[in-house]
Formats: sequence, C-alpha cells, structure tokens
Amino acid sequence: MRGIFGANGPGLPAGVRVVAGVWLVLLAGGAILGTACGGGGGSATTEEAAQGLVQFRRTCAVCHGQNAEGMPRLGKNLHNNAFVAGQTDEALVQFLIEGRPATHPDNTRGVDMPPKGGNPALTNENLQQIVVYLRSIQ
Ligand code: HEC
Repeated sequence: MRGIFGANGPGLPAGVRVVAGVWLVLLAGGAILGTACGGGGGSATTEEAAQGLVQFRRTCAVCHGQNAEGMPRLGKNLHNNAFVAGQTDEALVQFLIEGRPATHPDNTRGVDMPPKGGNPALTNENLQQIVVYLRSIQ
C-alpha cells in the first residue's frame, strides 16, 4: 500500500504522481478560464476591467498615464471623458484599431494617437477588455 506514494518507489509511481499533478493544474486552469470567459454571458465583469487595466498599462499608459489621467501634450485624460462616453463599445474598439492621426479633423493636440496605441499584438479581445476598463472610469 505504501508503495505508490512512498519515497522509495522505483520511478513509475513518481511519474504517475507528476502526471496527476499536471492534470490537476490543467483542470484548475481550465476552471478559471471557464469562469473568466464564459461566466458573464457577454456582460462586463470586474475581471475584464482588471485585465483591461493590465493591457492599458502595457500599451496606452506611455501616453495616457498609468491610470489614464492623461499626459501633457500626449494622450488625453480618459476619466469622465465625453468622447468615450459618447461612443458605443463597438465604435470605441474601432477607434482603438484606427487611432486618430494628427491630421484627423477631430485631433486637438496635433499628436498622433497610433492605431492600437502602436501595439499591433493587441487582439480584439484585449481591446474589448480595455473598453471595459475605460467604461469603469467614466
Ligand atoms: C503614442 C501615444 C499614444 C498611445 C500609445 C495611445 N494614445 Fe490614445 N491618444 C493619444 C493622443 C495624442 C490622443 C489625442 C488626440 C487628439 O488630440 O485628439 C489620444 C486620444 C485617445 C482617445 C480619445 C480621447 C478624446 O477625448 O478624444 C482615446 C479613447 C484613447 N486615446 C485611448 C487610448 C487607448 C485605449 C490606448 C491604448 C490601446 C491609447 N489611447 C494609446 C496618444 C496615444
């Protein structure tokens, strides 16, 4: 009986234990992912907003500040922002995909807002999470 989990097993039991451990980790990970992605039925969750803040800090904070408070002559303050408030989620994602070049008629700073904030690796899901974050600071 002690053989399977005993320290003096001939190797196979240890292997079995490792495999079982990996499966436990995978199962736990799957459960977490399942709640994060499937849970809300499409509604914005605090996890999405938190994830959005992580993405925001990676890509947008260089111009808009760590907490979207804005930077002089760079990105604008995005708190209580009339532009954000006036757009649908889809329109905001589209805005982030396109950015707003300095030549755009709506551009007030004469500075480019680059497409995807200059980070082409951002997925639509990342942009969606960022939009949830932006909504949370209006
Ligand atoms: C290289 C600097 C830079 C980066 C990086 C950047 N932005 Fe911007 N962003 C700007 C500038 C400059 C403006 C203002 C343009 C103007 O004057 O209209 C702007 C404008 C905006 C606006 C419109 C605000 C308004 O009041 O019209 C939103 C929303 C926005 N950015 C979100 C983001 C998000 C989200 C990210 C990250 C994915 C991001 N930005 C990354 C520079 C940047």
